[in-house]
Amino acid sequence: MPPNSFCQPDCFLAGDGRSNEQMVLACMHTLFVREHNRIAEKLEHLNKHWDGEKIYQETRKIVGAVLQKITYEDFLPTIIGRNTLPRYKKYDANVDPGILNSFATAAFRFGHSLIRPTFDRLDNGFNPTGNPLPLRQLFFNNTFINNFGIEQLLLGLLGNESQTVDRQLADGLLNNLFEQPTSPGLNLAALNIQRGRDHGLPGYNAFRRGCGLKNAKSFRDTAKEIVNSKNRRLLSQLYNDDPNLADLWVAGLAETPADGGIVGATFGCIIREQMKRVRDGDRFFYEKKGVFSKKQLNEIRKASLSRILCDNLKGIVSVQTDSFQAGTEYNRVSCDRIPGVDLKQWRSDAAENSPGSCQVCVKGILKIRNKKRKCTQKYKCFGSCRNGKCNGYYVSDKTPNCKSRRLYNQCGRNIQKIAPPNKKIPWIKIF
Ligand code: HEM
Repeated sequence: MPPNSFCQPDCFLAGDGRSNEQMVLACMHTLFVREHNRIAEKLEHLNKHWDGEKIYQETRKIVGAVLQKITYEDFLPTIIGRNTLPRYKKYDANVDPGILNSFATAAFRFGHSLIRPTFDRLDNGFNPTGNPLPLRQLFFNNTFINNFGIEQLLLGLLGNESQTVDRQLADGLLNNLFEQPTSPGLNLAALNIQRGRDHGLPGYNAFRRGCGLKNAKSFRDTAKEIVNSKNRRLLSQLYNDDPNLADLWVAGLAETPADGGIVGATFGCIIREQMKRVRDGDRFFYEKKGVFSKKQLNEIRKASLSRILCDNLKGIVSVQTDSFQAGTEYNRVSCDRIPGVDLKQWRSDAAENSPGSCQVCVKGILKIRNKKRKCTQKYKCFGSCRNGKCNGYYVSDKTPNCKSRRLYNQCGRNIQKIAPPNKKIPWIKIF
């Protein structure tokens, strides 16, 4: 990846150094930053006693969960089709969630074949606002976003189809990748092939066998997966008719889409295996018992990319329910009709039984995860503030997480009635 000094005019700061790699990717990063800020503002409003750290961590947890929901429930079935993952059961400490070589250097690079050579700019009615932008001008280029924002480009993505997964790549990727006035463009297909080899990936046939497909002695034996005879003939010429020699990325792209998804059988198998491992080996997977309360989880399940676009793009009025399908005038609905996450389930009192949230302490008895415990030194109470009034005491059996200087400032007088505040520590121990 080129250095960020390539950026025109400047790079945006993000957790991932690749966020500026092309303009529409920067738009997606911006969208999720906006979503984070939108949720944070709502949580602050719902829980006036939460401090900035608490708001940030809770928001981050929700956005992470929403991303997982969209990835596993909406995106993945579009990619690998009907043969999706078995139902989620529980966290499995024996599963290695590390990224497979075959996934990173070949199978998940199927996406390079989807990229369009140009990107439309559309208004809220999905009408063009100008000529489409050529991909070759978008690498590390934030000029358009700085001048016009992210709206037109994301509406363009909603209004357009991607290309199909096949052995063809957009010209901007094949000849003009990261080209600069002073340096020629690179070739992404060549980089992908080179990367697979430099990671020592076995040939295509080894992955076929690993995926339970027929051991192919020649490309004739791949006819069930590589249905197109021209593709088989080309591969046969390139690799001396030996599927053991074929690069995984090249032969994988030549396969016919399987199971109603958009990738072929071998890529589908590798992507499925990787996504299963990343899910089952994740201690914080959003569906894992105890990560969210039942009611919160029900809300997370309502999240969708369409709703996020509706909530964060200025002026947007309509969208297709499934953003992973190209929008037309027939499948778009008004944004009001797209369900979303109701954040009221994150109000401290609503989230009483949610792990890590504060519990109400009544008459010296604490209810922690449905168990009653007598208050001891270990359990601490904190006043909760709503509309400027103290209306309860909150406790935690872990590190107190409802402490807040703002709470003190707002409710200090009421809390003083219970115990004199220690000026150095902005929260009080009741017991
Ligand atoms: C205009 C769009 C895109 C551009 C310009 C682009 C470019 C690149 C480049 C330059 C690399 C590093 C190549 C190397 O040196 O090995 C890369 C890696 C990769 N790309 Fe893309 N890409 C794009 C879109 C996508 C999409 C849509 C997907 C998947 C859906 C994808 C998946 C990957 C993966 C999995 C890697 C390997 C990452 C790693 O190992 O850390 N890319 N891409």
